[in-house]
Amino acid sequence: MSKYNEERVLSVHHWTDTLFSFRTTRDPSFRFRNGEFTMIGIEVEGRPLLRAYSVVSANYEEELEFFSIKVPNGPLTSKLQHLKVGDPIMIGKKPTGTLVLDNLLPGRHLYLLGTGTGLAPFLSIIKDPETYDRFEKVVLVHGCRQVQELAYGETITETLPKHEFLGEMIANQLIYYPTVTREPFRNRGRITDLMVSGKLFEDIGLPSMSIENDRFMLCGSPEMIKDTREMLTGLGYEEGNHGEAAHYVIEKAFVEK
Ligand code: A2P
Repeated sequence: MSKYNEERVLSVHHWTDTLFSFRTTRDPSFRFRNGEFTMIGIEVEGRPLLRAYSVVSANYEEELEFFSIKVPNGPLTSKLQHLKVGDPIMIGKKPTGTLVLDNLLPGRHLYLLGTGTGLAPFLSIIKDPETYDRFEKVVLVHGCRQVQELAYGETITETLPKHEFLGEMIANQLIYYPTVTREPFRNRGRITDLMVSGKLFEDIGLPSMSIENDRFMLCGSPEMIKDTREMLTGLGYEEGNHGEAAHYVIEKAFVEK
């Protein structure tokens, strides 16, 4: 039996020269937990070429959405970026991943820290009603080099707060904090620096970090993960994974070289 479902592309949205999103059909048997990733890809020269992609959709949605970079000579993304409506796409049948609510101990504030396409799993998590049952405040921090890379900003600030069922929770409990490092913007600087200086917490009006109250999910560039993990470990936070819930969890965003 094949390890993949063959799905069809339903829509494609290009954010910038280097970022795009697309939606596909979803096999009814495909189940996942919000925050997980799965292998996706296409056939290149008769062979499947697949990479791990976080699912942007929430697990109750009918379609699957993915958020991708475009690398001019990247083996997969140089081809994937030309996807058209109706094209076939392979979706792995076994989603997995550590960025799931069950891997975190209870707390008051959930910090979702993503750089670049590392935002993807958090888009699923912020559409999960369970997230708002477990945490009083959910802080989504998205760090990018440039303003135009802050994909999904309008969805988060305009569309989701009007969502039929989740709108009220999102409007009351979700705090979105986009930050840019290489050009002017209302929030500037690396996520790590904003945490160390305390500026992030001042800006959003929440208390400075505490092991008792705060939980973190990290997804993005390997350097960001490494530095944030070092900071959290240094402060006594412990890393969670399957079977052992703790204070923070990590996942590297897929970056094609
Ligand atoms: P910077 O512009 O200062 O490198 P990239 O596009 O390289 O994946 O980076 C995405 C975002 O993550 C950028 O804003 C980048 O900032 C930031 N970043 C890169 N390395 C780190 C790190 N070690 N800690 C925190 N943020 C980082």
